Amino acid sequence: MHKKALITGITGMDGSHLAELLIEKGYEVHGVIRRTSTFNTDRIDHIFDKIKLHYGDVTDPLVISNLISQIQPDEVYNLAAQSHVKVSFEIPYYTALVDGLGTLAILEAVKNHCPNAKIYQASTSELYGGMGYNMPETGYTETSFMHPRSPYGVAKLYGLWITKNYRESYGMHISNGILFNHEGERRGETFVTRKITMALAKIKKYLDSNNLDFPVLKLGNLYSKRDWGYAKDYVEGMWLMLQQEKPDDYVLSTGETHSIKEFVELACKECGWNINWVGSGVNEKGVLDNGITIIEVDEKYYRPAEVEILLGDSTKAKEVLGWIPKVKFSELVKIMMKHDIKNIK
Ligand code: NAP
Ligand code: GDD
Repeated sequence: MHKKALITGITGMDGSHLAELLIEKGYEVHGVIRRTSTFNTDRIDHIFDKIKLHYGDVTDPLVISNLISQIQPDEVYNLAAQSHVKVSFEIPYYTALVDGLGTLAILEAVKNHCPNAKIYQASTSELYGGMGYNMPETGYTETSFMHPRSPYGVAKLYGLWITKNYRESYGMHISNGILFNHEGERRGETFVTRKITMALAKIKKYLDSNNLDFPVLKLGNLYSKRDWGYAKDYVEGMWLMLQQEKPDDYVLSTGETHSIKEFVELACKECGWNINWVGSGVNEKGVLDNGITIIEVDEKYYRPAEVEILLGDSTKAKEVLGWIPKVKFSELVKIMMKHDIKNIK
């Protein structure tokens, strides 16, 4: 008998990698997709025949309840979210509905219709807030103090605590993955890493054909630091959490933190360039050795409150799950840059 998994957020970066992994492992994979007026299945088109898709939305408890009752999954991966931190300041109410109450809808449906199903909840390093005062030198752990700095972080804090509450109250098998930033070739194009690799790939294409009429890359805060890993490694960790006898919460991270500038510098290297930083604040620019400006700062990408630094300590995941990230920062930048240079239109 195949195990059945239900993934919310299957059309997203993580959802698509997780679906591939579960297919490989012999699962019957079900996914919830939203009805949209344009196609939103680019990331899963190649496995379309191997998965079962159902229309739904986590803000619609009726459909979530019906789906879980009909499918009777063994494992539920709740990845659906309004996942953009900056956007959450613009649509805070909606973000709370999807990322907070959407989680509750999943929990209630599982409790009522298949209480033995195991649940993975997509928690996040945004919960910590990167406030300096609460970050241990070796990085945040599962027990570090949380101080979210965005409507997204606050909604996800509700998600973390409501899942812990259902675990304690009803003995359900629910695990939180407190995942630090993870990226890759399928990363959404408005997150900073992919925005950089796609823009540089485009600029390279222009410069390679001696065309200087390219769109300059506009970025916000160049100084924040993130613990960046590779998405494929992280979905493996999600699965491992649900294979444990007991539910628990785990940090997944690489244990390295790097600034946006460092990401840009390495990405430029992959393009064969050296970048020099001139000016400061909103006047700071990234200029190539030949004097061509390719990066400018635009304050519209600044956030009302910033998470300055994130560094994770995933010792627990290593010891209990045997999880170790294979791809670290420099390799990640290479993978993404190579992919975008090859595929840019
Ligand atoms: P993503 O690429 O933005 O994917 C989000 C997914 O959620 C998409 O499939 C999206 O569908 C779906 N979704 C959004 N609103 C929904 C709703 N109301 N009902 C049903 N589905 C909805 O995000 P990701 O990077 O793969 O991240 C996956 C999860 O991990 C998210 O919960 C995110 O917050 C969390 N997380 C991510 C990271 C990271 O660094 N990537 C780190 C920690 C935690 P559409 O395709 O239709 O928009
Ligand atoms: N998006 C974006 N665009 N970010 C920029 C830009 C820009 O033009 N310029 C600078 N940044 C900075 C942001 O201010 C932030 O400090 C950092 O780059 C990373 O931003 P994002 O790539 O948007 O990711 P995030 O860290 O805010 O959130 C991601 O990681 C979280 C885990 O820590 C998302 O995937 C969340 O869903 C996830 O929970």
